[in-house]
Amino acid sequence: MKSLLARKVPSKAERYFSTGISMITSYSTKGPNVMAAEWVLQISYNPVLIAIFIHKGSQTLKNIEKTKEFGVNVASKEQTAQVSVAGGYSGFEIDKINLKNIFKTFTPQKIKSLMISGCTINAECNLVRKEKLGDHVMLVGKVVHIKHDDTKSPLLYHKGRYFGLGPMVEHDRQEVLTTKSILEFFKDLAQGRFVLKCAGVLVESKKNVLVIKWPKTKLETIPFSIPPAGKNQRKHLKKTIREMKLDIQIEKESTMKRLVLKNGKDIQRINFIIFNGKSNSTKSNTWNPKQDDVIANLV
Ligand SMILES: Cc1cc2nc3c(=O)[nH]c(=O)nc-3n(C[C@H](O)[C@H](O)[C@H](O)COP(=O)(O)O)c2cc1C
Repeated sequence: MKSLLARKVPSKAERYFSTGISMITSYSTKGPNVMAAEWVLQISYNPVLIAIFIHKGSQTLKNIEKTKEFGVNVASKEQTAQVSVAGGYSGFEIDKINLKNIFKTFTPQKIKSLMISGCTINAECNLVRKEKLGDHVMLVGKVVHIKHDDTKSPLLYHKGRYFGLGPMVEHDRQEVLTTKSILEFFKDLAQGRFVLKCAGVLVESKKNVLVIKWPKTKLETIPFSIPPAGKNQRKHLKKTIREMKLDIQIEKESTMKRLVLKNGKDIQRINFIIFNGKSNSTKSNTWNPKQDDVIANLV
């Protein structure tokens, strides 16, 4: 038992994963228990399912196998003491959850395992699946009651250390300042979508690129299509090119442009997957001088 309880601390690449930390609550005839777990993951929306991965020597695993239920209490950044105690001792060693200066608990709605106060999320789960995987056991719980606290911020875990959330990271997109009418044109195509996903073809000839003129606007762009979600974007582009009666061969090689079009405070995000193309009949096409960044300079 002793050797199983000793937590094997990973020494190399495993330490570079970043996770949150939860406190898993459970009970047995001997009383309630809590353990710390970083391997906790929501794995389905409907129903809401949460998978936890628990080592074989823990009291928590024994409890859950018997009672078929557990609580997932996602730790907030004020709870490093609770997590350290829940993870540093086994319920076989001490009665952790009843350490009055460490844990504050509340009575659950749908299960019997006590829940921990001060967390970002409290989810009450019924065990629906158990699977041995390597040296841990996956326990999948169906959430029967859940609540969250918006005022709390999660505790994070990386390289064996606790962290809080840092500042939000901005999307890495190329900013393109554009006119109101061009922005409106793309917003119309996006129809409220957060990101407009386009597939375009770049056909170059000497110092020019092939462009098409959009009806009712003076806008010229490389030929592109807006493939429906889930459809192969190259195939959809090919079809659109045929419908445009353009004689272009679309190659497999592609690049991705991530743009954010801006006009004042108004924006539209656009992803362009751009395929290289070859035109067989250069004469009948419309060509524009080639610029360094084709898409950015066309809009
Ligand atoms: C930050 C942290 C994260 C942990 N994550 C896990 C985990 O995901 N799975 C696991 O089996 N043990 C994990 N542990 C170790 C258990 O919490 C520890 O073995 C605990 O003593 C088990 O308690 P129990 O025997 O009362 O169930 C973690 C410990 C800490 C400190």
